[in-house]
Amino acid sequence: MKVLGINALFHDPAAALVVDGVTVAAAEEERFSRRKHGKRPVPFAAWELPELAARWCLKEAGLRVEDLDAVTYSYDVSLARPADEMGLHDPWDHLRQTYAGQAAGFLATALPGLDPDQVRTVPHHVAHGASSALAAPYVADGWDEPTDVLVLDGRGECASHLAGTYTAGRLQVHRTQELPHSLGLLYEELTEHLGFLRSSDEYKVMAMASYGTPRFLDEIRQRVRTTGDGGFATDKVDWQSFAKRLEPGEEWTQDHADLAATVQQRLEEVLLELAGWLRERTGSRRLTLAGGVALNCVANTVLYERSGYDDIWVQPAAGDAGTALGGALHHAAASGERLQPMPGADLGRGWSDDEIEQWLRTAQVPYERPVDVAEAVAECLADDGVVAWFQGRSEYGPRALGHRSLLAHPGRPQNLERLNDVKGREQFRPVAPMVLLERAPQIFSRGPIPSPYMLFVHDVAAQWRDRIPAVVHVDGTARVQTVDPDTEPLVARMLAGFERRTGLPVVINTSLNTAGRPMVDDPRDALECFGSAPVDLLAIGPFVVRRAGWTAR
Ligand SMILES: [Fe+2]
Repeated sequence: MKVLGINALFHDPAAALVVDGVTVAAAEEERFSRRKHGKRPVPFAAWELPELAARWCLKEAGLRVEDLDAVTYSYDVSLARPADEMGLHDPWDHLRQTYAGQAAGFLATALPGLDPDQVRTVPHHVAHGASSALAAPYVADGWDEPTDVLVLDGRGECASHLAGTYTAGRLQVHRTQELPHSLGLLYEELTEHLGFLRSSDEYKVMAMASYGTPRFLDEIRQRVRTTGDGGFATDKVDWQSFAKRLEPGEEWTQDHADLAATVQQRLEEVLLELAGWLRERTGSRRLTLAGGVALNCVANTVLYERSGYDDIWVQPAAGDAGTALGGALHHAAASGERLQPMPGADLGRGWSDDEIEQWLRTAQVPYERPVDVAEAVAECLADDGVVAWFQGRSEYGPRALGHRSLLAHPGRPQNLERLNDVKGREQFRPVAPMVLLERAPQIFSRGPIPSPYMLFVHDVAAQWRDRIPAVVHVDGTARVQTVDPDTEPLVARMLAGFERRTGLPVVINTSLNTAGRPMVDDPRDALECFGSAPVDLLAIGPFVVRRAGWTAR
């Protein structure tokens, strides 16, 4: 069975393709259109579809539109109600509903050959839930065992949360939380109040929280409450009464950091209670998470440590992009297909060595083919060079995981500033380490190991903090990616080469992009990024391009 999944309505439009239970391709529209998040999350843009990503998915699998058995759309307008009835102030939301009701027609126009009757709507939170519970490693050996799923985001049709259990591909829903109560919208509101872009920059609030103390907790606990039955209530918060509203780029104060710390802590408390309620009800050992809130890696570690589940798996594309895959997986499972776990996050575009070489020739840049690109990169990093690393297929979801990455030496504290400058980012934002899997337990604790998708924070062992200062956040933590040589042999070889030269099995890894732009996806993006940013070496496929005049520091 061939199912194309589409996410389009709110933000992060994306497409994914599942063929005979196997996830063969998944990609966000932004990587093709070069417009961050694909579009702004406003009702006027609700009709826009991930046309380029969808066409690429089909091309990647060698399929025509006519070959598809179904196209899923991760929003079911029949479940929605008028915004004011749901207590939302969103005067143009009716446009969204109108467009969503016409999705089959829009899709048939975007994908000529598609019969609109083949379009299936999947409720938004069911698609999120499936993206995690039906993509997790558990489906390989525990298909018939119950796996719990907790979905939390800004909003779906009429709810902001779903707690359920998947067993043998079937979902049982235990609880949903109706709007306007929403932990995701609460966090988004604070993001905007702190001068950041809502539905985009929530991770900056999480980073800022570690600079503060949660001294407004009493007040926020009164506004954000659990209801004891697996749900919660979020009352309107007068943010201004805690810290003044910031304009974009305006300096933040201790009050702002304290407010971020307070909301972060309250989020963690509520998530723990929701997870505890679910586990008590089901007795399951495994929890899966999705929805934008599941990108909060600090909260994920609290759940990992204290929720009582034996194991937690988070969909790397936990935001709305992931509902493209989840919708397709849900439909395939509901049709009786037995699914395979997603093979990794590298589900996007990739190029052959010959194709990459052709791009380099076209660009007329001098390039070399070293004996081993991993060793050439390890050497440059050991000499304190900054490396743009473009290898294999691009990642699905917001994290660079060693396929479209910017790498640097973690032992030099100034490299945090250097990378934030390359990327035009705020200086309070941390950069993350990638580490060889077998060496990770000696250096990192508290979060799960392996941790291949950077979705949890870990504590850095005291004796290592001075050795890898550039990746240690102000609170002594790091958002780790562990690298398994079995699944990522090239990245592992690069890390081993770096350790041989420096004694450090850790490299700084941040996403390969510059400020406000989507991650690099194709070779042209990589060359443009290399040409416009102070990067010393571009490692693209088996080739390297060196910055003219660069010498080791
Ligand atoms: Fe969502």
